[in-house]
Amino acid sequence: MNNRSYVTVLISTVFVAFCWETACQEKSSKTPLAKGYPYELPQLGYRYASLEPYIDVKTMETHYTKHHQKYVDELNAVLKGKPRVAKIPLEKLLSDPLKIPRALRTKILNNAGGHYNHSFFWLCMTPCSSRKPTPVVEALLTKHFSDFDSFKTAFSTAAKSVFGSGYAWLVLQKDGSCAIITTANQDTPFSRGMIPLLCLDVWEHAYYLKFHNRRPDYIDQWWNVVNWDHVEQCYTDAQGSQRPPKNFERNSSAVA
Ligand SMILES: [Fe+2]
Repeated sequence: MNNRSYVTVLISTVFVAFCWETACQEKSSKTPLAKGYPYELPQLGYRYASLEPYIDVKTMETHYTKHHQKYVDELNAVLKGKPRVAKIPLEKLLSDPLKIPRALRTKILNNAGGHYNHSFFWLCMTPCSSRKPTPVVEALLTKHFSDFDSFKTAFSTAAKSVFGSGYAWLVLQKDGSCAIITTANQDTPFSRGMIPLLCLDVWEHAYYLKFHNRRPDYIDQWWNVVNWDHVEQCYTDAQGSQRPPKNFERNSSAVA
């Protein structure tokens, strides 16, 4: 390698390191979020482009500013003038739908679920993923799924199998065990008495701009941006409790 090539490689390496460091610092720049109704989009802990090349910038921007925003707007619209329902924390609405008047139930559940699921999904990703579970999470996955690779395969298979729109989840069950489940549309694990630890959005709007109809390719790439620290935080917060993870409460605008 001549001197010119060496300098070019060196500059490129420094630039990539600088970008990675900058992206990883973004996650600590979260600002406090508004609480309760009226709901707002939560702050992302990273820029739209920070998950490139695995999740493209256009998908992130559209997903966040159009799709997630629509759930927030429609939830606020249906709760307007309904102070008794509006003051109920989001996860309580999702856990106990009978608290919602029958005439409003479907519309509120769809949009509250859409707001919760997306808020949680953003937290499940980071531009500085370790690409492998933390020791605590690895031990958990080994206990319930044999090992990390077996879990990863089972989770990917579940995500690929969702018919139409929905999510794949790693959840904590009432008996303290972990399970992989899928939900349709904007249903949440709360309706089954489960606490979410990790989720993957497999609606087409989450991947179509980059991957078109190739959902399996999107799922394979998504593993590169999983936020394993978030999974551990959710697990730590949720152990022995049926309350939602504190992590969500700290970072979402959805909790009163
Ligand atoms: Fe989505």
